Amino acid sequence: MAENDKVKEKGVVPNHVAIIMDGNGRWAKERGLPRVYGHRKGGQRLRQLLKEAKRLKVKSITIFAFSTENWDRPRKEINYLFSYMEGFLSKYKNELMKEEIRLRMIGRRDRIPKTSIKKIEEIESLTKNNKKFFFNIALDFGGRWDITEAARKIIRDYEGKRISRSQITEEVFGSYLSLADTPSPDLLIRTSGEQRVSNFLLWDLAYAEFYFSQVYWPDFDVKQFRGAIKAYSERNRRFGGIGDGKSY
Ligand code: FPP
Repeated sequence: MAENDKVKEKGVVPNHVAIIMDGNGRWAKERGLPRVYGHRKGGQRLRQLLKEAKRLKVKSITIFAFSTENWDRPRKEINYLFSYMEGFLSKYKNELMKEEIRLRMIGRRDRIPKTSIKKIEEIESLTKNNKKFFFNIALDFGGRWDITEAARKIIRDYEGKRISRSQITEEVFGSYLSLADTPSPDLLIRTSGEQRVSNFLLWDLAYAEFYFSQVYWPDFDVKQFRGAIKAYSERNRRFGGIGDGKSY
């Protein structure tokens, strides 16, 4: 396990929180509204919780905004999600700079609408020197894709004689993944009562604490978020050891 994965102890705020923002569609349906209203409300919630996370001294948030499987949704919903995200980033840009937040996208870039990629890359470049908080958006992302992609890159480097067989350790393998330079998530939150990882950060969540909430994402407010952080702080993380601070 990487050294920076071991640092969290009982009673500590998680350094990195991963979030599966689930239940937008059901939230809207229960109110007799089109699904996209749920996404819009979900986006507003996200903005609020990023602020709260930073206030609580969380360092990084990684959200699952669009999975490799989400392409199976109706075209109209997909288009809405990407155009909503572009608008969200445009409006959020100044706040990102003011709050010194760095935005990064993880996931495949070749299938996402060009205007969305252009917007994302503009904001990635604008915020690249910000160091107070790290906001990672997983878009067209899948944990299996990430691991497969890492394997491909390792083979490329092996064939190019830049890496040898014996150099391929867990640590080195991890350095080929999308979140290579970020300590792994300490906490995964999934809303809406579903209790699955759904092909999110398969490698990186190896030692994360999981927190499942019954609440739909648009209703997952600051109070709910604090509840998740509190639950995390009460867990006893042993990393496969016996809880004496040693992992092996
Ligand atoms: C899951 O709910 C939600 C999504 C697949 C999209 C999440 C996107 C947002 C919250 C928009 C904001 C994102 C950014 C980056 C600005 P669901 O549609 O699967 O809900 P359901 O399970 O009830 O159908």
